[in-house]
Amino acid sequence: MDGRQDGQQSGGSLILTNIGELATPLGRSARTGAQMRRLLRIKNAGVVIDKGIISFCGEMTDTDFRHGLAEAKAAGTPVLDAQGMACVPGFIDCHTHFIFAGTREDEFFWRANGLPYMEIHRRGGGILRTVEATRQASQHELFELGSRRLASMLSQGITTVESKSGYGLDLDTELRILETAKTLRAITPIDIVSTYLGPHAVPPEFLRDPDGYLDFVIDTVLPAIRSKNLAQFADIFCEDGVFDLEQSRRYLLAARELGFHLKLHADEIAPFGGAGLAADLRATSADHLLKAADTDLLAMARSGTIAVCLPLTAFTLREPYARARFMIDNGLAVALASDFNPGSCYSQSVPLLFALAVLYMSLTIDEALTGLTLNAAAALGLAQSTGSIEAGKKADMLLLDAPSCDFLAYNVATNLVKTVLKAGTVVYTRT
Ligand code: NIG
Ligand code: FE
Repeated sequence: MDGRQDGQQSGGSLILTNIGELATPLGRSARTGAQMRRLLRIKNAGVVIDKGIISFCGEMTDTDFRHGLAEAKAAGTPVLDAQGMACVPGFIDCHTHFIFAGTREDEFFWRANGLPYMEIHRRGGGILRTVEATRQASQHELFELGSRRLASMLSQGITTVESKSGYGLDLDTELRILETAKTLRAITPIDIVSTYLGPHAVPPEFLRDPDGYLDFVIDTVLPAIRSKNLAQFADIFCEDGVFDLEQSRRYLLAARELGFHLKLHADEIAPFGGAGLAADLRATSADHLLKAADTDLLAMARSGTIAVCLPLTAFTLREPYARARFMIDNGLAVALASDFNPGSCYSQSVPLLFALAVLYMSLTIDEALTGLTLNAAAALGLAQSTGSIEAGKKADMLLLDAPSCDFLAYNVATNLVKTVLKAGTVVYTRT
């Protein structure tokens, strides 16, 4: 049986010895272009963790490690023997919509038979169906659903996750989703970063009046969220038939004025220029990008906007994958994420995500691992403190039931996570 070990404090001290292979990107900001494939790989490695923070990481034979080990042992610090196992940074899922009620399995089969995603949206299905179900759900129900999904994340090695609102659209339900994320923080070791995605669709009460809805969002909802400090990022579904470029710019500028950092759902379904807008506004990230134009991607490289690619969504929608190879070869920082949601991607599978990134987006495993760790941390503004295994960072780390990180892709769609450490504390063990 799998189980989370409860009752442990955060900020643990621990020593890891005999690690078969330690593999990690290095740095305190996003890795761009060719930097993405420069993983540090150490055979027979050791890590010293002091009150949740990594104080040493290197070869077992290193004299600093031996001193650290002797001192820590004398102080009674526990030792975990990681013989034959690979050790990588905790995975960071920087784009999810995991707090919602209801499911839409019928749409999955309609799409499998050729009905386009946006056609379902135009007929009033899609996102608005989940909005209806989520509006009817109590905070307790959302909490229960969220907590089950977090348990699945933890068992797959996710130590930090982003949570978008956007299935309420009205003030009360958007606040309820964001409050749910806040209460979930108390019961999970996973760090949750909240994003407000009010402009995810135009709600029925503003039918055919997207500008009226945006006025409401800008004048009422954004300030309420800000004053309660319920989200750090603001996001918008910038897409043909949802919110256009001008509307997206107006919303994002207002959000930035209030202190939000910016994200966009950009160029997911049709080529629309969202990636160019993200670059122009120096957004933290632009996400999806399946149809993004070359010139817009090159502008993102110049602005330092992170390209968040979501291979599980392209797979589910049966669309061509985002051109991550082109992006990296042209100097962008690429992050990977699940996009878990009830419509375009009802999958939380990290192992499948790795397989798709390597097999169908032509990333090396080093690039894919950087994408799901350090670059994902940067997409959430957390690269200073997490996303890599190096001295000074939070000890968010995984031990894998495999001799090297290569197996994350090679052992196709198989969960290899054996042990999850969050800030130096073992928070999950697969038994
Ligand atoms: O990232 N495209 C917009 N939002 C989600 C899908 C939401 C839904 O279909 O419920 C996405 O793909
Ligand atoms: Fe999304």
